[in-house]
Amino acid sequence: MTEAILLVGGQGSRLRPLTSHTPKPLLHVAGVPFLAHQLARAAEAGVGRVVFATSYLAELFEPYFGDGERFGLHLEYVTEDQPLGTGGAIRNAARRLRGGPDEPVLVFNGDILSGLDIAALRDGHRASGAAVTMHLTRVPDPRAFGLVPTDADGRVLAFLEKPESPDQLVTDQINAGCYVFTRSAIDRIPDGRVVSVERETFPGLLASGEFVRGVVDDTYWLDLGTPAAFVKGSADLVRGVVPSPALPGPVGEALVLDGADVHPDAVLGEGTVVGEGAHIAAGAVVNGSVVLPGARIAAGARVHRSVIGRHSVVGADCVLDSVVVGDGATIGAGNELPSGLRIGCGATLAAEAVRTSAAPIPCTAQSLASSGVPHASPAAR
Ligand code: GDD
Ligand code: MG
Repeated sequence: MTEAILLVGGQGSRLRPLTSHTPKPLLHVAGVPFLAHQLARAAEAGVGRVVFATSYLAELFEPYFGDGERFGLHLEYVTEDQPLGTGGAIRNAARRLRGGPDEPVLVFNGDILSGLDIAALRDGHRASGAAVTMHLTRVPDPRAFGLVPTDADGRVLAFLEKPESPDQLVTDQINAGCYVFTRSAIDRIPDGRVVSVERETFPGLLASGEFVRGVVDDTYWLDLGTPAAFVKGSADLVRGVVPSPALPGPVGEALVLDGADVHPDAVLGEGTVVGEGAHIAAGAVVNGSVVLPGARIAAGARVHRSVIGRHSVVGADCVLDSVVVGDGATIGAGNELPSGLRIGCGATLAAEAVRTSAAPIPCTAQSLASSGVPHASPAAR
């Protein structure tokens, strides 16, 4: 039985205000907390035990996932008093692993949607004798990731986390956020202090001549860390572009969860998901969007590639493209919100306050103050 560590302690700051009250891995993607998709795929690959390495909003994980029985897994939870970084979190969580020093341990970043053959990565690692095997993928712009050049045999030559100068852009191969460690390599990570696996552990292994393997896999891959990626990942799951055993309904152009109320004259498409208790009124058009539980979209509104927060309200005839609406926010009727706008949790936007990309956005001072989130900021990374 394979063991795994799931890194879920990050703050998800690029997804604020959605992550103000909900950790990124628990945000609903295609109708269920994102981790449900990752856990289902891990279980399919023969993973039996998963240790959650938690920190930010740590107390919210166990009430949903429990002991893991309904996912066919045994789950454990470890909380860092202070965030220990990715490497420190792996070392800390390994206290709950049971395998011997030569056993493979899978490690997953908690925000990656991929079609990777996890079992093949683990089996290849076992056969190779490497200290670590990492899943690599290719992206057109690697600057926001860890760059991982390899030789013809798949041996990792360097690990350059988020390169800052153009001369470091030596490859389009990036760390895809899934590793197989030989357990003894985890035990060599320093205990009880902040360690970045990307900036310290991997470069350290390479400097000491250890065998680190990279496996380039060009199947579906997405880091859901930005609003644009978040809506894309959800829509791709809904449409079956990337399969998930955890999808709570049939693949199609839209997924409407039980208890949602969608008027027959509303139009849903492009992989939109409508969460439990959400309401879509007549004549609304919602494409490629995530409508979280309890949200309301009024008549005639047009919503494209946006995230509509829990129990928020989008007024009649509003137009939203690539907008994030925080939980409990209210957008008055007739607003046309510019692409990239984020509305803070609980904020209120008066009717027809914004008709184009004009700024600033008038919101109630009280609600903005309580949200702690700037009411207008670009959604770009
Ligand atoms: N427990 C714990 N403690 N988890 C953490 C901590 C911590 O202190 N810091 C981050 N994490 C978790 C996050 O919750 C996430 O699941 C994972 O570690 C990676 O953090 P991100 O914040 O998503 O990192 P990133 O996307 O900028 O970069 C990472 O992923 C890229 C692939 O998407 C790096 O691993 C890059 O090298 C990689 O290319
Ligand atoms: Mg990430």
